[in-house]
Amino acid sequence: MKTAVVIGVGPLNGLGAQLGVRFAERGLRTYVAGRTQASVDAVAEHIRAQGHDAKGVVTDARDSDSIASLFNLATAGQNELTLAIYNVGNNTPGRIVDMDPKYFETSWRTCCFGGFLFAQEAVNRMSPNGGTLLFTGASASMRGRANFGAFNSSKGALRLLAQALAKECGPDGVHVGHVVIDGPIGGDKIIKGIPQYAEQVGEAGLIDLAGIVDAYEYMYDQPRRAWTFEVDVRTSIEKW
Ligand SMILES: NC(=O)c1ccc[n+]([C@@H]2O[C@H](COP(=O)([O-])OP(=O)(O)OC[C@H]3O[C@@H](n4cnc5c(N)ncnc54)[C@H](OP(=O)(O)O)[C@@H]3O)[C@@H](O)[C@H]2O)c1
Repeated sequence: MKTAVVIGVGPLNGLGAQLGVRFAERGLRTYVAGRTQASVDAVAEHIRAQGHDAKGVVTDARDSDSIASLFNLATAGQNELTLAIYNVGNNTPGRIVDMDPKYFETSWRTCCFGGFLFAQEAVNRMSPNGGTLLFTGASASMRGRANFGAFNSSKGALRLLAQALAKECGPDGVHVGHVVIDGPIGGDKIIKGIPQYAEQVGEAGLIDLAGIVDAYEYMYDQPRRAWTFEVDVRTSIEKW
């Protein structure tokens, strides 16, 4: 049974959950992972109610034992891991000069170190048949900005980790890709989390969730002789 793992799954109207929904619709047994039992269970139940195969798994991306248990589950029995997506990454604003070092470290553990732990498990379990390993990026992956140094540096490091992995693992049949989401996503994180901001940018300024998921699906479907490392997505009115 072809299997997918998506880590960084929260509300149903969010990127992690929608990635899980899409790849389950494609017939993959999908493991949706995040730190909150109720959230991952709700997403998995939604997928099963549509007639597809999913399981919610409580996992902390920063913990190597937790990541290993997730992959043990996802590769048990007849499961064949073909897709793994690292979608974890919360914005951590703040001035660098007066930032608590712990806060900086947590940002790095969440956005970068967790990606390393996840990639090791994924790649080792995809061999020898290969597979697809995708990472979620942001505007922060591409440039530093005042008051966003912790997030910029950890997302930027994740991007270069992904690029190195793409070169290291490509010959073994593992397609590694990175999706740069350049602007706010039209999901619950923004619409419910910071409604004033969502109202200010308006619907036209929020990136379409299904359109973002299309970018992951595009890379997943690429044949071995035509691989893309990176896709960026933004709205037509984004200033970039
Ligand atoms: N929202 C935006 O506007 C935006 C813009 C550009 C890029 N992005 C990127 O898109 C991704 C998130 O998409 P989203 O904003 O739509 O959110 P989402 O996919 O709906 O939710 C991501 C979920 O990740 C989980 N998570 C956080 N830390 C974790 C950890 N240590 N281990 C496991 N799971 C963890 C959180 O759930 P728990 O707290 O329950 O674990 C969170 O709800 C991130 O990589 C982010 O950098 C977002």
